[in-house]
Amino acid sequence: MNEILIKDTKAFYQKTFNAPAGTIILSPGRINIIGEHIDYNDGYVLPAAIDKIICFAFEKNNTKIAKIHAIDLDESFEIDVTSKQELTDSVWTNYLRGVLNQLHLKGYALEGFNCTFSSNIPSGSGLSSSAALECGFLYGINELFNLGIKPIDIALMGQSAEHWVGINCGIMDQFSSVMGLEDKVIKIDCKTLEYTYHDANFVDYSLILFDSNVKHSLFTSEYNTRRIECGEGLDIIKANYPEITSFRDCDVNHVTSLQSKMTDNVYRRSLYVVKEIKRVIQACVALDGGDILTLGKLMFETHDGLSVNYEVSCDELDYLVELAKAEDTVIGSRLMGGGFGGCTITLVKKGSEEAVKAKFSKLYLDKFGIELKIHDVKVSNGTSLYK
Ligand code: GLA
Repeated sequence: MNEILIKDTKAFYQKTFNAPAGTIILSPGRINIIGEHIDYNDGYVLPAAIDKIICFAFEKNNTKIAKIHAIDLDESFEIDVTSKQELTDSVWTNYLRGVLNQLHLKGYALEGFNCTFSSNIPSGSGLSSSAALECGFLYGINELFNLGIKPIDIALMGQSAEHWVGINCGIMDQFSSVMGLEDKVIKIDCKTLEYTYHDANFVDYSLILFDSNVKHSLFTSEYNTRRIECGEGLDIIKANYPEITSFRDCDVNHVTSLQSKMTDNVYRRSLYVVKEIKRVIQACVALDGGDILTLGKLMFETHDGLSVNYEVSCDELDYLVELAKAEDTVIGSRLMGGGFGGCTITLVKKGSEEAVKAKFSKLYLDKFGIELKIHDVKVSNGTSLYK
């Protein structure tokens, strides 16, 4: 499937600019096994890059103008790469403008280029198409002009571009999009940015993404609010336990002992964060040991926390997890990504995938009148130059 996308993107470039593109970049979306809303809370996450990608075709044009065409939207824009960028009403261009601003801030002198891109990452599904966009675009400029930016810095600059657009996100999406490896999940320590690769081996189970096909508009404002609430929670904990510097130093008792000093929201957010940090550590041990039943159980617990205490779920996602709990051949499921829509990530016994897909699709349609989308994904390499 990606070969067709690559071929089409190259052909489109050739047709648009009357010349071949010399630099082709593939930049993937991501899944996250466990560790949600934990990257900006100094915890650990367990994401992986997937085989759904944005393909970019680039070439220098010896001007100071970037001419960029989004094939899927059939929209273009041109900008002077030497000038400072401002936010506009066009969201997709803002991500790219944000990347250019990052390059300015770091003092890189830019020249003009042409670029076309096309994607098969479902957008609005919580698979981080925006991280793939930022990181792939930056990776391409880095290659084109030999800027020598290290992969980890591509991820960090991509994250800063996303902040500029308005979501105060953590590092997980950009990190996994850039640093992914085939058949490996990445355990990222979001405090130190140290990371280790672990086999994405789910033994007798398949990972399936059930896509609620909804995206509630609350996402950005609630996301940013969660960050503020967690900051408040941590400040209260630090003020009362000076030895604590981060949520990862906490036990549940540190939070429960301070309940009366916190608002109800801040209390519940903090409780979720402390528990989730511990779950990721357990989940990684379970995955390494092939104990997929334990991993699945932890995923269900994460969903409950996200739904009840962190309050980033919605009826559609809760229903999908309810269906998963009721199914003998499903051992774990939870909402994945920021929440308020998008996908659940679900572990289904091999051999029963099709039956489960058919059953969930019917029940979901009956309940909400919305078609359930389903994505089969393969754990794949991070952003790369295509040769
Ligand atoms: C979004 C953000 C990430 C992360 C997840 C929730 O995808 O971009 O940084 O916080 O939500 O885990």
